[in-house]
Amino acid sequence: MPAIAVVGAQFGDEGKGKVSHYLAQRAHMVVRTQGGNNAGHTVVVGGRIFRVHIVPSGVLYPNCRSVIGNGVVVDPAVLLQEIDYLRSEGVDTSRLILSDRAHLIMPYHRLLDGLDEDRRGLRRIGTTRRGIGPAYMDKNARLGIRVADLMDPEGFREQVEENIAIKNDLLQKVYGQEPLSASEIYEEYMGYADRLRPFVADTSRIVNDAIDAGERVLFEGAQGSLLDVDHGTYPYVTSSHPIAGGVTIGSGVGPTKISTVLGVLKAYTSRVGDGPFPTELHDAVGDGIRERGKEYGTTTGRPRRIGWVDGVMLRYAARINGLTHIAVNSIDVLAGLDTVKIAVAYDLDGRRIEDFPAHLRDLARMKPIYEDFPGWDESITTAQSRTDLPPAVERYIRRLEEIAGAKAALLSVGREHGQTIPIEDLYEHANV
Ligand code: IMP
Repeated sequence: MPAIAVVGAQFGDEGKGKVSHYLAQRAHMVVRTQGGNNAGHTVVVGGRIFRVHIVPSGVLYPNCRSVIGNGVVVDPAVLLQEIDYLRSEGVDTSRLILSDRAHLIMPYHRLLDGLDEDRRGLRRIGTTRRGIGPAYMDKNARLGIRVADLMDPEGFREQVEENIAIKNDLLQKVYGQEPLSASEIYEEYMGYADRLRPFVADTSRIVNDAIDAGERVLFEGAQGSLLDVDHGTYPYVTSSHPIAGGVTIGSGVGPTKISTVLGVLKAYTSRVGDGPFPTELHDAVGDGIRERGKEYGTTTGRPRRIGWVDGVMLRYAARINGLTHIAVNSIDVLAGLDTVKIAVAYDLDGRRIEDFPAHLRDLARMKPIYEDFPGWDESITTAQSRTDLPPAVERYIRRLEEIAGAKAALLSVGREHGQTIPIEDLYEHANV
């Protein structure tokens, strides 16, 4: 049975955690395939708020296996803290599986992430400083250390020593920092190795077997399409592939096994970190949305930048992901506005631009062309079905579906699990 991929259609923070958690209630397995603890998923269950950064949200369901795939970069200290936190909340973490091929975030990755950001000054990326970029750099430079390596103490010691020699040169000669001690890092990580060992496995085998056995498998995305290192607003991107293609590489599952790609967006847009944002609002409307939507980063606490939905971006996300469906979140947050807007194209010196440009210099000069929609005053937080929604909301959703060229499968009208309106059974779709 083919599987479902959940991806972010904007700049991350679209509410993928809530959507994944909703879909996970019927899943046998939830898999993460890229990013690391730069992600932050907030899941509200029965009034209790769970914040996870690395453990897939399926862990909150007793019958669901959770997989951290090979494409994820793993900070073992953070993973173990999260496991401890979940256990202290009464969550069973014994069905968590960690890929032996996932790369490790090392202390020098965290350090170099911050130093590189500071060096960039005004041209900083606005990273989460969790060491994500430097860990992927080492992976691609073929210097990375993987979970399987951590399980082999002698080999691991040599790899740490080799890396520390290189990193200490960089730290001392380029950044004027104190050198790091290979033996301290080795000892620290050996402590993690013993605790992580029971979770480690060949996850590509496990995920493929699950799909082949007819289990319902959900791939839970992190970040968003416009943060993809190839397709996003480069260089203001993350260092992995949050789009649907990244799911196959990051899990070791072939593309033919993924038949459903759900693009998650908010009824407005937010961005945390620097980089272009054509529909950004710098006024009271944006401030109001930030407050009502509680738009502060789960990982860093930073206030998120707020803007209208950008249809150019949504069309682009639909194309690069092959979206089959969309989920629209936080619709309730827009209640009370006179007018709601969607950018449907950009204007560049009198020319109408429909495609998302590659160059940020061009993007900076483009002015969004908006379509206006009447707002709504009614609270929709208790709506149970699409037909409960006021006509103005329905009109707005329909336009989003048209732009994405994909049907809405889920609508979200509040933070609670129950405030989700299912429209289409994606597992049925995945089954055809
Ligand atoms: P990095 O992933 O920490 O290297 O950060 C690169 C960019 O991606 C920055 O603009 C971050 O704010 C952004 N970013 C990384 N992870 C997330 C996320 O989960 N949600 C939203 N933005 C993110």
